[in-house]
Amino acid sequence: MTHAATPAALSVRDLRKTYDNGVEALKGVSLEVAPGDFYALLGPNGAGKSTLIGIVSSLVNKTSGEVRVFGVDQQVDRGRAMRLIGLVPQEINFNMFEKPLDILVNYAGFYGIPRAEAIARAEEELRGAQLWDKAHKMSRTLSGGMKRRLMIARAMMTKPKLLILDEPTAGVDIEIRRGMWQTLRKINAEGTTIILTTHYLEEAENLCRNLAIIDHGRIVESGPMRALLSRLDVEGFLFDVEDALPAALPEIPGAEVRAVDAHTLDVDMPRAMDLNRVFAALDAAGIRVRSMRNKSNRLEELFVRMTGDGATATPPAATEDAA
Ligand SMILES: Nc1ncnc2c1ncn2[C@@H]1O[C@H](COP(=O)(O)OP(=O)(O)OP(=O)(O)O)[C@@H](O)[C@H]1O
Ligand SMILES: [Mg+2]
Repeated sequence: MTHAATPAALSVRDLRKTYDNGVEALKGVSLEVAPGDFYALLGPNGAGKSTLIGIVSSLVNKTSGEVRVFGVDQQVDRGRAMRLIGLVPQEINFNMFEKPLDILVNYAGFYGIPRAEAIARAEEELRGAQLWDKAHKMSRTLSGGMKRRLMIARAMMTKPKLLILDEPTAGVDIEIRRGMWQTLRKINAEGTTIILTTHYLEEAENLCRNLAIIDHGRIVESGPMRALLSRLDVEGFLFDVEDALPAALPEIPGAEVRAVDAHTLDVDMPRAMDLNRVFAALDAAGIRVRSMRNKSNRLEELFVRMTGDGATATPPAATEDAA
């Protein structure tokens, strides 16, 4: 009922993709993105993010499953579904020997936008992207950040209702990244639904209201950003200790203590907890710490928890490799 009234910006049902070489890139992915949402698709290399985006934007053929863009079934009306989407691909793919204005106008031409209208729109987009002074310069002379903004401006030429960006900030420095966040926030505030893929939890945290975490072709977690972050309020440390650990480990109220092997202690504690309490407890138990390290970054940690690799005690060798 709700569906018919306000269709999701994107609805994906049991999407599967097996490439010709036998790689199962998507193993039954379902997700729903609400109109107006800012949605992150988070996942490690090879998780299937680009494959998913490729299928949604009709660049990659699916093996099975269903894709609807604002209620339009891709299978039924591919052209219409495509015209609702603006895509910013993972790699910069415009002609470096063309000028930004021409790149935008020609792109609009593919979509059947009359030339005069395209020129007016290109000016508007270039001004918005703070690239108007570069409109007639050779694109290869643009800085990395400008090239990224040009990619976004190009995608916006067709006024898409859904803007999809595949790792828009991969490999760009923090200043450029912040600038792009601002651009994307503005586009979203003006009513465009945005989906982006990223490796950076920080990026998703800063921009997105909802997210899905994808790993090995499956969604392992999805929901509101805030709900997920509250679960991340735990910090993990590994302590390398001098002598073999006692059979009975010290109890540290609020923290979770576990032996990884005879000389390694794994402690999960609330972020707000004072580390000195841990040291005091270990000291009282006669455990001498030789060194300690942060278990991993939050995203990695999250993946480990979500994918269950960390759920069971791992053999020492594997733990050392992972750390
Ligand atoms: N054209 C292709 N032919 C065969 N296998 C492919 C092809 N494209 C991707 N794959 C495989 O499908 C899996 C998912 O790849 P995909 O590019 O979708 O991941 P990703 O999440 O975008 O990764 P990254 O973060 O590195 O961009 C990988 O195992 C990859 O090697
Ligand atoms: Mg990718």
